[in-house]
Amino acid sequence: MKKFLIVGNWKMNLNVHEASILVKRLDDHIKIQRNVEVVIAPNLLVLQPISREIDKRKFKLAAQNAYFVDEGAYTGEVSFTMLRHLVDYALVGHSERRIYFNESLETIRDKVAAAVRNDIKPILCVGETAQEKKDNETKRVLHDQVTTALSNLTPEEVENVVIAYEPVWAISTFGGDRPAQPEEIKSAIDWIRSIIRDLYGHSIAKDQTVIYGASVEPEFVGEILGLDGVDGLLPGAASLNYAKFTKIVEAAAKVSR
Ligand code: PGA
Repeated sequence: MKKFLIVGNWKMNLNVHEASILVKRLDDHIKIQRNVEVVIAPNLLVLQPISREIDKRKFKLAAQNAYFVDEGAYTGEVSFTMLRHLVDYALVGHSERRIYFNESLETIRDKVAAAVRNDIKPILCVGETAQEKKDNETKRVLHDQVTTALSNLTPEEVENVVIAYEPVWAISTFGGDRPAQPEEIKSAIDWIRSIIRDLYGHSIAKDQTVIYGASVEPEFVGEILGLDGVDGLLPGAASLNYAKFTKIVEAAAKVSR
């Protein structure tokens, strides 16, 4: 049985000391759940100390970003090679990277390939902006983002990519105050799976892990994970609050598949 994947995106919050306190609280409150895999994505600086503090049976780590060249003269960057063995996952193409750091479709494609080549599972974030939604461009945007990002992978490698549907307009830090409607989430995730099916076949599409993120709060977990084809959640703001994040994990554990 596929486990639900719950990924807490801490974004650019918490120094080493604060992160350590949150991890301790999460460890005290979250129990190992048979049907849920819990991943936390802290900033790069705290990954190393946190990796020594977490119970690895309970929590996996994700980076929020890395550079696609393995090493060299790229002042200020950290490569996927350097994160190898430290993280299991890495967010790639988060909308804040696309919008604030001008990451192009091609940059994201190269980062996805670099993660895979370094044995790190990319969590590829895709989603339309408010304007794109208004212009009825959601399907085209998702198609472009998914097909370009995966274009340098073999079909076997594609299976290791997690795809996160994150409608930009619903993300709390872009002004969203509640998740997309269940039918919007279902339709986007079905569309993403159909893109994978057309490119890589039925069996890969069926096994692909596709999750939802944007304004996830504990009270929405049951409804969203109850949708057929939704394999997990990517909360941002709520993941910085140990009580909320614990409730999200517990609510996911109660959903049967
Ligand atoms: P949010 O963020 O849960 O605060 O909306 C989600 C994300 O940006 O990954």
